[in-house]
Amino acid sequence: MIRTTVSASREYEVITGAGLINECGKIMRDVAKDAIKLLIVSETNVAPLYLDKVKASAKAEGFEVYEYVFEAGEVSKNINTVAGMWAVMAKAGFTRTDLVAALGGGVTGDMAGFAAASFLRGIAVVQIPTSLLAMVDAAVGGKTGIDLPEGKNQVGAFWQPSAVIEDTDCLLTLSDEKFIEGMGEVLKYAFIMDVPLYEYLHENASRGVAIREDAWLMEKIVGMCVADKADVVAGDELDNGRRQTLNYGHTVGHVIERDSEFTKLHGVCVAKGMGIMIDACEAAGTLASDEAQKMRELITSYGLPVEDDITPEAAVAGAMNDKKKRGNTLSVILVNKIGTSEIRKMSADEFRSFLEEGKKIR
Ligand SMILES: NC(=O)c1ccc[n+]([C@@H]2O[C@H](COP(=O)([O-])OP(=O)(O)OC[C@H]3O[C@@H](n4cnc5c(N)ncnc54)[C@H](O)[C@@H]3O)[C@@H](O)[C@H]2O)c1
Ligand SMILES: [Zn+2]
Repeated sequence: MIRTTVSASREYEVITGAGLINECGKIMRDVAKDAIKLLIVSETNVAPLYLDKVKASAKAEGFEVYEYVFEAGEVSKNINTVAGMWAVMAKAGFTRTDLVAALGGGVTGDMAGFAAASFLRGIAVVQIPTSLLAMVDAAVGGKTGIDLPEGKNQVGAFWQPSAVIEDTDCLLTLSDEKFIEGMGEVLKYAFIMDVPLYEYLHENASRGVAIREDAWLMEKIVGMCVADKADVVAGDELDNGRRQTLNYGHTVGHVIERDSEFTKLHGVCVAKGMGIMIDACEAAGTLASDEAQKMRELITSYGLPVEDDITPEAAVAGAMNDKKKRGNTLSVILVNKIGTSEIRKMSADEFRSFLEEGKKIR
């Protein structure tokens, strides 16, 4: 079991380990001593697998348990679903000392977090992420929210959880596709800030997706990613500085994802975005060719792509429309050496020619 402390506006622990879900009641009790009622939010894929375990563990700690299960998928990530959670809590007479638990992937975590952030102007939430993407990214750091028809994650709040409980055994029921997608974010941490993680991934590259059957290794890898995210969030909770390095591969990746109308998975698009940045940095002469090659090989060994046919024009036009853009320049995240990253401000023209040079080396 690995315990990582996140020092944000609220200090909390992320606990990572195989089989942990059976102990979630005790962990929730530790952080919500006066809670009487608990709302467990989950969705139609995850609830049949894990809801009973969470319920049993919570009841053993004396929680009065309520549940809200919504239709799985990003289409549910809207205000109506959140209103459903508010209604359950209001009818049951939840008070500010009661608790919400988010059991599921990033969609569940973002929405249950937002429902908790807004109900009675804020009640405590515990995140119990079940997807790899949610364990290494979404559940840690306090970003919560919903989508609008006009765009993803357009409404939300920063609301740190009281604890994050990550049972790495849950990864065994994920589809291969969803596991591989999550590896895109794992690789990102290795490249931007974590040489030991890179080395673990490199040593185990020949096993590919089969690494998820290795409980010890998965606990280690997920724990390292969590520590990296905790480190970045602690210094920049509101995402004005170093937290932006987590956007490595995302500037172009987001555009590819949106252009596919979200038919391509996020983590897959991030891998493509990282591949495009690797090409551009190599072409610019700031990333050594052998280093670039090592990065590409690692990405592909975990089943992810390193290229896409998006044109530099389309990538720049899309990036200029992104909500994360500030003013007229883009904050582009560069990795010129495995384990370190920098934020470089570029104009649209600079970014276009940077990407064009990268395309030429292909
Ligand atoms: N808050 C943040 O900082 C942050 C960061 C990254 C992503 N996000 C958000 O997270 C969402 C994406 O997360 P996601 O990929 O987890 O999406 P998701 O919650 O839709 O889960 C993906 C799929 O995996 C299934 N699933 C989850 N856990 C499972 C398990 N253990 N076994 C079997 N199936 C399982 C789900 O039912 C779903 O079909 C997006 O809405 C994104 O905006 C938020
Ligand atoms: Zn991402």
